[in-house]
Amino acid sequence: MKKITYFYIICVLIFLTESHVCHSIRCNPQDKKVLLQIKESFGNAYHFASWDPDTDCCYWYIVKCDRKTNRISQFNLFTADISGQIPEIIGDLPYLESVTFHKIANLTGTIPRSITKLTKLTSLTISWTNVSGPIPSFLGELKNLTFLDLSFNNFSGSIPPSLAELRNLGGLRLDRNKLSGSIPDSFGNLTPSLTYLWLSHNQLSGTIPRGWGELPFVSIDLQRNRLEGDISFLFGKNKSIQVADFSRNLLQFDFSNLQFPDDLGTLDLNHNKIYGSLPEDLVNLDRLFLNVSYNRLCGKIPVGGQLQELDYTSYFHNRCLCGAPLPDCK
Ligand SMILES: *[C@@H]1O[C@H](CO)[C@@H](O)[C@H](O)[C@H]1NC(C)=O
Ligand SMILES: *[C@@H]1O[C@H](CO)[C@@H](O)[C@H](O)[C@H]1NC(C)=O
Ligand SMILES: *[C@@H]1O[C@H](CO)[C@@H](O)[C@H](O)[C@H]1NC(C)=O
Ligand SMILES: *[C@@H]1O[C@H](CO)[C@@H](O)[C@H](O)[C@H]1NC(C)=O
Ligand SMILES: *[C@@H]1O[C@H](CO)[C@@H](O)[C@H](O)[C@H]1NC(C)=O
Ligand SMILES: *[C@@H]1O[C@H](CO)[C@@H](O)[C@H](O)[C@H]1NC(C)=O
Repeated sequence: MKKITYFYIICVLIFLTESHVCHSIRCNPQDKKVLLQIKESFGNAYHFASWDPDTDCCYWYIVKCDRKTNRISQFNLFTADISGQIPEIIGDLPYLESVTFHKIANLTGTIPRSITKLTKLTSLTISWTNVSGPIPSFLGELKNLTFLDLSFNNFSGSIPPSLAELRNLGGLRLDRNKLSGSIPDSFGNLTPSLTYLWLSHNQLSGTIPRGWGELPFVSIDLQRNRLEGDISFLFGKNKSIQVADFSRNLLQFDFSNLQFPDDLGTLDLNHNKIYGSLPEDLVNLDRLFLNVSYNRLCGKIPVGGQLQELDYTSYFHNRCLCGAPLPDCK
């Protein structure tokens, strides 16, 4: 009895503020129709068992309705044992703000153009799938995106310059694909809102855009590519960078006189062609993890900060680095 009374009271309260919630079906009929077509496109897989046409689609798994509009605003499909392609009809859920396809090994094909109809989309994740083809240039039309994650897929070709048109982006992940070619020139003018950039584990070549020296990156991961040239302009006292992983590239520059922001926590440069000596400023960093192994560095490791706390493997395989934790200089 008590429970029923509470429910009644809560219903009345909700009714007064939002109406309809307790009395009618929230699901928009057009959205339901589209969702059932999506289910069908995946062969009515068991993963969609809760998508019963006789029930309110706002209570189905995988999707969420917006509290105000009752339109489908989120579609988050992950760790699913389903096969197929990203259904074109997903573009007919115009209120979607967030779309995720994650850990679906048998999701194949390409990203459909219809996705550009989702003008409210702020977050798009397609990761750990077998979606392939070039990263489509039309993704640059999704101007409201704040987060784009296309990591761990089978994308090939070069990075489309149009991604630099996403001026609201805070994070961009294209890591662990088969991307090649150089980083587009347009990326020199990425939006200053972009603080996380991960392009690691691809086959990117060429140099890093000069414009990155002016951008307030917090975390950059470009490890395991074929990048060459100088990255020293990314560092300096007044930069915001905290994590920088450029290991396993072909970078070649003089390390000797660089300065770093106090908050730099990770600097991994192993397996490059970096020369000169270790900058004295490294002793001022309190939380530093450093790995400069397998380069062409020389001279005495400066004494102080974290530099003697680090394992010798952070420094080994250089031309002539010496001093703790490596053997003494001669
Ligand atoms: C993917 O498809 C293959 C062949 O169609 C099947 O053997 C396998 O179990 C599927 N794997 C997953 C994770 O869905
Ligand atoms: C892509 O498919 C292959 C088999 O065809 C599978 O081994 C691999 O794990 C899949 N990739 C992902 C990220 O699921
Ligand atoms: C971004 O979303 C807002 C509503 O959330 C919408 O009014 C606007 O048209 C969208 N912007 C673009 C460029 O599509
Ligand atoms: C991954 O892409 C390669 C081409 O780069 C293609 O040959 C292969 O079939 C793709 N794998 C899947 C599972 O789509
Ligand atoms: C860093 O300081 C230099 C000179 O002091 C200035 O030219 C540069 O614009 C500053 N960079 C940032 C990102 O604030
Ligand atoms: C530094 O990188 C090298 C090369 O990848 C690796 O062998 C070594 O274990 C790393 N050292 C530390 C402390 O991570």
